[in-house]
Amino acid sequence: MSRKIIIDTDPGQDDALAILLALASPELEVLGITTVAGNVPLALTQANARKVVELAGKSVPVMAGCDRPMVRPLQTAEHVHGKTGLDGADLPEPSLPLDPRHGVDFIIDTLRQAAPGTVTLCPLGALTNIATAFTRAPDIVDRVQEIVLMGGGFFEGGNITPAAEFNIFVDPEAADIVLRCGRPVTIIPLDCTHKALITPARLAAFADLGTRVGEVVAGWLNFFERFDVEKYGSEGGPLHDPCVIAFLLRPDLFQGRFCNVEVELGSELTRGMTVADWWGVTKRPANATWIRDIDADGYFALLTERLARL
Ligand code: RIB
Ligand code: CA
Repeated sequence: MSRKIIIDTDPGQDDALAILLALASPELEVLGITTVAGNVPLALTQANARKVVELAGKSVPVMAGCDRPMVRPLQTAEHVHGKTGLDGADLPEPSLPLDPRHGVDFIIDTLRQAAPGTVTLCPLGALTNIATAFTRAPDIVDRVQEIVLMGGGFFEGGNITPAAEFNIFVDPEAADIVLRCGRPVTIIPLDCTHKALITPARLAAFADLGTRVGEVVAGWLNFFERFDVEKYGSEGGPLHDPCVIAFLLRPDLFQGRFCNVEVELGSELTRGMTVADWWGVTKRPANATWIRDIDADGYFALLTERLARL
């Protein structure tokens, strides 16, 4: 029995690999892909998601969701992902049409129609669509099987400010709603993804697939990783978003702890900071599983093996 998932995303090269991994994995049934403004504006993230689905040779509904955060003005990340959001490889304009349903409506309707506890939400960008759906239709929250998201950072600090990771920073109010929703939440933060670096050998393994997918992925990652390599002086950039899908497929590759995680909303200095009470120094109730470690070799081996199937 495959696991039903909704991917909520702001492609983004790393989002694109997460989508490809999910579409290449028979253990998962991708019910739909809802897009959100984040790395680049919504007009681009929705088109990029359709390009990726087409690259995979699949047909999955892609919806456009929210074009801005719940409260704050949109901040994008072209400095990381390029002006298209998928710089590094040229893909044709998608022939897959945009599904006319709004992404938030798709999340609400899908959860209402599915048996309770059978749909997993996989947010890879700002949490605006998820939080808006929960706010507009509180009855769907208890129907969610679990939420596995990429976002946050604590021991690693932030990547868009010294304190905050981009996905949470863009819409901290949305993150707060999701963190307080009461359903099982697994957070894959920078503390984990910064241990999953795109080393030259790992990049070469994608290029050596000898397929169109391998060629495109290698082009994307060559472009995408330069920001982190220049910033951190590391031997490669962190491959963030596919960790969410890999966690669903191989949770044994990850290690973390159930603890309290809250997000800063009031301070401009630390806006969007995720405060993980890893050592349990407060009496705040645990509300999320915070992932801190990954078997990076196992992660990249899984990615490469699955992308070879497309
Ligand atoms: O901070 C990394 C996250 O922000 C990733 O999801 C990346 O795609 C961007 O959305
Ligand atoms: Ca993303």
